[in-house]
Amino acid sequence: MAEQAPGVRIGGLTVVYKTPAGELPAVRDVSLTLEPGSITGIVGESGSGKSTLALSLLNAVQPPGRIAAGTVEIDGLGDVATFTGEELRKARGKHIGYVFQAAQNSLNPLKTVGKQLLDLGRSHGVEDLHGLVREAKELLGRMGLDGARVLDSHQHELSGGMRQRVGIMLALVLNAHLVVLDEPTTALDMITQANILKIVREVHAERGLTTLVITHDIGVVAEVADRLAVMYGGRLVEQGPTREVLGRPRHPYTKGLISAIPRLVGDIDEARALPGRPPTLATVPKEGCVFRERCALRMDVCDTVDPEAVAHGPRIVACHAVTVKEHA
Ligand SMILES: Nc1ncnc2c1ncn2[C@@H]1O[C@H](COP(=O)(O)OP(=O)(O)OP(=O)(O)O)[C@@H](O)[C@H]1O
Ligand SMILES: [Mg+2]
Repeated sequence: MAEQAPGVRIGGLTVVYKTPAGELPAVRDVSLTLEPGSITGIVGESGSGKSTLALSLLNAVQPPGRIAAGTVEIDGLGDVATFTGEELRKARGKHIGYVFQAAQNSLNPLKTVGKQLLDLGRSHGVEDLHGLVREAKELLGRMGLDGARVLDSHQHELSGGMRQRVGIMLALVLNAHLVVLDEPTTALDMITQANILKIVREVHAERGLTTLVITHDIGVVAEVADRLAVMYGGRLVEQGPTREVLGRPRHPYTKGLISAIPRLVGDIDEARALPGRPPTLATVPKEGCVFRERCALRMDVCDTVDPEAVAHGPRIVACHAVTVKEHA
């Protein structure tokens, strides 16, 4: 892979999980481009399919799940949705750095962090292991930790927030140019969170990365992402430049999400929770718009026809009401 930020083109991606009711889509017909050198944020409520989409970038969806359709083209690598075995193992870590959701629980409890770092380096054929350790200490130091101490520690000797930062270090240390962070700051207090996001931004810029940040916290993406994609019930309902999407949301779901957050609305009395609950795999409608049950703009067509993702300049919105309005 070229030593520069890769572009990523996800096209028509559908990922299903096998359930007692048959195979049901957790991600349905999602198309998303990560521009080289950009930070893209994916936001959505719990169960909207964010982690499933992120795992697809490494072709790491585990049974009972599988990629049922679509492509994940990464510059310099190809369509990773077709990769298997050794090809995949090599791409992960070296080309794609990844922090799993709940990274604070994904370390090996029996080995020190340092030992796991060396294992990671060896499994990717790193020759300069001293350099790798130096780099790890550097990254941990930037995140406010004593690198030498952390590398000597076992998982149980570290707090949840410390483990989360170890996860971020492990995702960055092999110098991958595509980095995927799934809920990188959930175990952190507000100040540490702000500090970590600042470091993510700095490292992103210094190294020239393409970065994807997944979060349920719209405040996190507001701070870090150039582009924002909003997921609901396995569909991408809106995407565009972060500032435009947050400043002038078009999809009724995005509007609802934003007006539910006092920090963004600026007044706790003005903030309104979105009524209703997001669908689960079993309750997500098989046809029509996935958001219609909670939508104030619902029309007849929403019950039967899944709205297409339509581009309005840099903004892409999948909503019949918005499409009608734009063409009025
Ligand atoms: N192994 C699995 N088997 C069956 N269903 C699954 C499995 N993993 C996820 N799902 C379902 O797929 C849907 C999407 O899950 P996913 O974890 O991608 O959502 P998410 O947006 O990351 O949620 P969260 O914010 O809680 O992390 C959910 O309805 C979930 O219950
Ligand atoms: Mg998740």
